[in-house]
Amino acid sequence: MKIMVVGGGGREHAIVKKIKENPAVTELYVLPGNGGMTEDAICVNIGAKDIEGITAFAKEKQIDFAVVAPDDPLVLGAVDALEAIGVPCFGPNKNAAILEGSKVFSKNLMKKYHIPTAQYEVFDDPEAALQYLENAPIPTVIKADGLALGKGVIIAETREQAKDAVKTIMQDKVFGASGDHIVVEEFLTGPEVSVLAFTDGKTMIPMISSMDHKRALDGDQGLNTGGMGTVAPNPYYTEAIAAECMEKIFLPTMEAMNQEGRTFKGCLYFGLMLTADGPKVIEYNCRFGDPETQVVLPLLESDLLTIMQHIAKGTLADAEVKFSNKAACCVIMASKGYPGKYETGYEITLPAEKSRIFVAGAKRDGEKLLTGGGRVLGVTEVADTLEEAIQKAYQTVEQVSFANAYYRKDIGQKALAAEV
Ligand code: AMP
Ligand code: GLY
Repeated sequence: MKIMVVGGGGREHAIVKKIKENPAVTELYVLPGNGGMTEDAICVNIGAKDIEGITAFAKEKQIDFAVVAPDDPLVLGAVDALEAIGVPCFGPNKNAAILEGSKVFSKNLMKKYHIPTAQYEVFDDPEAALQYLENAPIPTVIKADGLALGKGVIIAETREQAKDAVKTIMQDKVFGASGDHIVVEEFLTGPEVSVLAFTDGKTMIPMISSMDHKRALDGDQGLNTGGMGTVAPNPYYTEAIAAECMEKIFLPTMEAMNQEGRTFKGCLYFGLMLTADGPKVIEYNCRFGDPETQVVLPLLESDLLTIMQHIAKGTLADAEVKFSNKAACCVIMASKGYPGKYETGYEITLPAEKSRIFVAGAKRDGEKLLTGGGRVLGVTEVADTLEEAIQKAYQTVEQVSFANAYYRKDIGQKALAAEV
C-alpha cells in the first residue's frame, strides 16, 4: 500500500513512525517532511499548503491513502481535493475544519448547542470592541478569528493591554484577514487538558489524555510557543471528568457538526480547562496536536493506519483502539532564542536508538543532520510510571547534542505534583 502524509513537523514524524508499523505499507511519502525523517519515509519537496502539488503527486504515485495532518491544508480543503480524485483520506473536509479555522464559528456552535465554554462577544468593528472593553471584566482574552500560527490568542491582564490587542489584531492586522473578526472571551482558570479523539461522525473514541507545556521557560514563564513538552496521561483528567466530557462536550460536538451538515471525520482535538464550574472548551483543533501526538501515539497499541482507514470508511465502531496503561513524556529541544530569533544550521548528534525521537525542524547536508527550525526535535520516552518516563526522557535528551540547544527542565513536574 502506498501512503502519503502531508506535513513536516514532529507530529508528522510520530504519525509516520506509527503508520510504518503496518506491514501492508510498501511506500511511505511525507510532504514535505524534513531532513530528520529520511530514514522513515521518502520526503517530497511539496509544501503542505500546495494543494495542487499535493493532488498532482497523489495522482502520479497512485497513492492508496492520505493523511493530512496540519491545520492549514485541512482548512484550505486538501481532503476535499484528494477525495475528488479518488484518494481516501484521514482528516476532516473543509466544511468541518472550520471548527478550528474560525473561532467565531466554533464559539457560536458551542453557544447554539449548549456546549460548555467561556462567555464571549464577537466583534467585527474595532470601535465597538474598544467600547466594550471599557467595562469588560479584566483579565480578558482576545482571540483573532482565523488561523494565526498559534499566536492569535492574547491574554490581557489590564484594560490597556486588551485595547492594544484589539488595535494590533483588527487595525494593524498582524494576523492579516484572521483579524477581521475577533472573539473577546471570559478569562477562565483551572488545569488544562488536551484530549485528541478519533471520530467518523458516528462514533467518538477519545485517546489517552495529555498535558502540553506552552510557555518557553520553566515554571510556565516566558512567551507562548508551539509547545515545549507534553506528558500523557494527564493526571487531572480523572475517569469521572472523562465521563462528564464525553456526555457534555465530545458527543454534543460531534452531533452539533452533524446537525450543521458539517460531519467531522478525523482527529478532533479538545483543548479543555477544568474550571470550578466543570470542564469547558478552550479551543477546538481539527487535527492531531503537536507535541501531544508525540506522547499519545507511542501509547497506542492498536494499528493507527487501520483506525484511520476505518474513519475514512465511516466504520470506526468496528476498529480496535487500545492504549497501554503506561505513561509518556516528550521534551522538546529547541534552538536557543525560540520563539523569538534563533540561529540554525548546527549539526545534530543523535543516539543510536532513535525510535522515539521525533524531528520537527532539521535539514540534511549529506550524511549530516543540521538544525533547521525553532523547535528542532522532541524526545519521547515511555515507562510504567510518569516519574520514570520523565526521568528517561531527560536521560535521552542528554544523549542528543547540537549547538545552542535549549529545553525546559520541568516538563511533567506539574503533572507529578497533581498525582499525589
Ligand atoms: P491557543 O493559542 O489557542 O492554543 O491558546 C493559548 C492558551 O491561551 C491556551 O492554552 C490557554 O492557556 C489560554 N487561553 C485561551 N483561552 C482562554 C480563556 N478563555 N481563559 C484562560 N486562558 C485561556
Ligand atoms: N499543542 C497545541 C496544538 O497543537 O495546537
